[in-house]
Amino acid sequence: MLWKALLAALISLLVASATDTYSRDDFPPDFLFGAATSAFQVEGAEDEDGRTPSIFDAFAQTAYGGYGNKSCDQYHKYEEDVSLMAKMGLNAYRFSISWSRLIPNGKGPVNPKGMEYYNNLINELISHDIQPHVTLHHSDLPQALEDEYGGWLSRKVVRDFKTYADVCFREFGDRVKYWTTMNEPNIFVIGGYDDGFLPPQRCSPSPINNCSKGNSSTEPYIAAHNILLSHAAAASLYRKKYQDRQHGIIGINILTFGLLPLTNTTEDVDATERAKDLLMGWILNPIVFGDYPDTMKKNVGSRLPSFTKTESNLVKGSVDFLGINYYYNYYVKNIPQNHQVKGSSTFTDVAVEIVGTMFNATTPGGLLKVVDLLEQSYGNLPLYIHENGQLTPRSSSLDDWARVKYLHGHIKAVLGGLRNGSNVNGYFVWSLLDVYELLGGYEISFGLYYVDLNDQTLRRQPKLSAHWYSNFLHGRTIDPRLIIELKRNASMPSLYNVI
Ligand SMILES: *[C@@H]1O[C@H](CO)[C@@H](O)[C@H](O)[C@H]1NC(C)=O
Ligand SMILES: *[C@@H]1O[C@H](CO)[C@@H](O)[C@H](O)[C@H]1NC(C)=O
Ligand SMILES: *[C@@H]1O[C@H](CO)[C@@H](O)[C@H](O)[C@H]1NC(C)=O
Ligand SMILES: *[C@@H]1O[C@H](CO)[C@@H](O)[C@H](O)[C@H]1NC(C)=O
Ligand SMILES: *[C@@H]1O[C@H](CO)[C@@H](O)[C@H](O)[C@H]1NC(C)=O
Ligand SMILES: *[C@@H]1O[C@H](CO)[C@@H](O)[C@H](O)[C@H]1NC(C)=O
Ligand SMILES: *[C@@H]1O[C@H](CO)[C@@H](O)[C@H](O)[C@H]1NC(C)=O
Repeated sequence: MLWKALLAALISLLVASATDTYSRDDFPPDFLFGAATSAFQVEGAEDEDGRTPSIFDAFAQTAYGGYGNKSCDQYHKYEEDVSLMAKMGLNAYRFSISWSRLIPNGKGPVNPKGMEYYNNLINELISHDIQPHVTLHHSDLPQALEDEYGGWLSRKVVRDFKTYADVCFREFGDRVKYWTTMNEPNIFVIGGYDDGFLPPQRCSPSPINNCSKGNSSTEPYIAAHNILLSHAAAASLYRKKYQDRQHGIIGINILTFGLLPLTNTTEDVDATERAKDLLMGWILNPIVFGDYPDTMKKNVGSRLPSFTKTESNLVKGSVDFLGINYYYNYYVKNIPQNHQVKGSSTFTDVAVEIVGTMFNATTPGGLLKVVDLLEQSYGNLPLYIHENGQLTPRSSSLDDWARVKYLHGHIKAVLGGLRNGSNVNGYFVWSLLDVYELLGGYEISFGLYYVDLNDQTLRRQPKLSAHWYSNFLHGRTIDPRLIIELKRNASMPSLYNVI
């Protein structure tokens, strides 16, 4: 019985994979393959060596009960992790700097221990020929600044972010050539200030969430505005003071979605355009054209801050590249004007509802569509796919076949895009390890490596997907024979120590 099932599975795999064959050598040699994490999600050592809490710490204390675990303890285990990356064959590692580890109060003195840690990590990466790709803000504004002046809600944050960025460029810019100012500001402001489900958990009182403070109808727009100004201040500083001598590039990152109309009615098709303006144009229109999308100006009215001429000029063109995170497609449904969308003021403003099963449909074609849309609508910027990956429950089972299929399909789609002339320059799997997840803590996972939280040493174990990615990166053709070999190995857990 088992044999027959196995045989049937192998035959269907063979057929399915027969047309899917590709290898690393099909990509341009300078195309980068990497994996990603972020500071709070991977470092641990939250209260060691002078680090102070960030808004992510405060969130983790209430959100998923994982606070107090050491996450992956990369702060102490970075050498081991870099060695895993090197063995796997990564060209690049995307990580973020913890602002409150480097500058504990958000402003003022630099923490020598924080500086030492990032110097060590960067040097370790360089010595293994792995490029550091650094993000400056990944949901972790120093809590001190949140407490002092409301963090991203205050103009004061622009000066402090610029000073923090200046320290990073000055201290690390001789070795770091890829800077991203912000991770997913588009979703950070919706999650953090509209529905209140993400740090810093602010929203208007509503039956579906329990924020203690906030105002969903104004704050998302104010926070986004200050984030854009902070980004632009840092980018302008980098270009004036560092770029000529350090020869790096600077950009911003957004979360992208394949957005499809729920039905083919004009209403839903138009709603899809408005959803695009809200979810991507909110950040990208100012950066590419110097102002918010017309839909938003019209629908949000005086609650949407406006740029002065000087600010607009500073924000416009303030990126050398765009980093995109992509996971899944969503459907967009038209909502009548002034009809409240449950739990969301921003969606109510543009009269759309997003429907779809999160983390579900695996849609490599959606990634290509997004790439196409970004290139056509927002000035054909060089793109880096900063995050792409498959959610599974966190489990000691190392057989993550769903993740292998997902990565296989999406990397193939990227290749298709390149062959069609797309401007994608790199691809990062989220995530290198099973980190503390923003939307599920330690319950869910995206990692290529399983991290055993019950083991004192937080042992890392490669999943099937790590073997798959490693084979790919070492130039092995992704064909049915490889798939069968991987599957065979997967059923023999003892072989997992070979990577
Ligand atoms: C650490 O994580 C485990 C698994 O999610 C959880 O059961 C435990 O309560 C956490 N420990 C602490 C101290 O938060
Ligand atoms: C949010 O701010 C607006 C504009 O200041 C105000 O009209 C509204 O009442 C506020 N809402 C809440 C829930 O505080
Ligand atoms: C809000 O808090 C109350 C009391 O703690 C709890 O019963 C309820 O489930 C919470 N609602 C949400 C949406 O988290
Ligand atoms: C809408 O039209 C397109 C193109 O004709 C078709 O592929 C798609 O399935 C239609 N969608 C729906 C929801 O009917
Ligand atoms: C995806 O969603 C469908 C419908 O909601 C569900 O039946 C299915 O189990 C989900 N698949 C995964 C992998 O979560
Ligand atoms: C190929 O690129 C063209 C021009 O950017 C675009 O219109 C088309 O949709 C792309 N095709 C695919 C399959 O991505
Ligand atoms: C499968 O396991 C064998 C034996 O350890 C190893 O040599 C081989 O590289 C593995 N194959 C793959 C595709 O990882």
